[in-house]
Amino acid sequence: LHEHPEVFRRYPLVPVHGVPLMEPIAQQWGPIENFEARPDDLLISTYPKAGTTWMQEIVDLIYAGGDIEKARRAPTYVRIPFLEICSPPPLPSGVDTLVNAPSPRVIKTHLPFQLVPKSFLKNKCKIIYVARNAKDNLVSYFFFDRMNLTQPEPGPWDGYVKKFMEGEVAWGSWYDHVRLYWDEMANHRILYVFYEDMKEDLTREIRRLMDFLEVDLPEDVVQKITHHTSFQVMKDNPMSNYSTFPDALFDKKISPFMRKGEVGDWKNYFTVAQREIFDADYELKMKGTTLRFRDVL
Ligand code: A3P
Repeated sequence: LHEHPEVFRRYPLVPVHGVPLMEPIAQQWGPIENFEARPDDLLISTYPKAGTTWMQEIVDLIYAGGDIEKARRAPTYVRIPFLEICSPPPLPSGVDTLVNAPSPRVIKTHLPFQLVPKSFLKNKCKIIYVARNAKDNLVSYFFFDRMNLTQPEPGPWDGYVKKFMEGEVAWGSWYDHVRLYWDEMANHRILYVFYEDMKEDLTREIRRLMDFLEVDLPEDVVQKITHHTSFQVMKDNPMSNYSTFPDALFDKKISPFMRKGEVGDWKNYFTVAQREIFDADYELKMKGTTLRFRDVL
């Protein structure tokens, strides 16, 4: 990453089966679509900025039996590769990295359910999905798009709210993303986790994850994992805070990766008028689903 800063630039979005993805991903779509999953692969799936990194740290620690030193062996993106990530050569793609990774693999993706490689479903792989309420997710994405120098320019706040509502951001519509994984819980091994629930009672959610992963750990280890995955500890941990990413990729002077980590931060950014328009549109887009978030209306 540090050896080739010249490959990073703000890539345009190119639709793949109707979903806007960063250009290098669209250009190398074939190997992603044909990725060969193994039955013991675990997929961590999220819409960008829903709490992916948080979940990655928790899962890595559960698999490590709470061994903090083991979880510090490498940065998040090395420990748990990002399935669809592609930079222009010479950087290896997510698929290149994963093909050579030993089992059991834990894999990160932001792909909406309909674009998840079919081999994951054929192999009945477990999927952990993290969802975060729309307005906080949007605010987090706005700051991320400013500092991530490979994402399109977010432009001014007001325009960004509209882009998010129209799904004109990388990985497409938040609404479709959260809804489809929710629906597909009926057909696949998906554990649906809410960011807001993790904020409310992290230990409870860690226990849910352990059940799903069929891992049993003593109470003191569960408490250790809870502590190690708190916002402040992760923010201070170079292996989980993305400080190891070069500035040509993440400009931390614009915004840190571990920004605020709160529920309801949207109240600091939405005007009353923006909120009214957003909420009315939300009602329409979320009509007919049983999926409910807190702190939305
Ligand atoms: P904010 O921008 O609201 O602070 P992702 O990993 O999907 O990119 O999500 C990043 C968001 O999750 C950021 O939100 C980040 O601060 C938050 N986050 C990461 N680790 C967290 C933790 N341990 N507790 C709470 N929020 C966390």
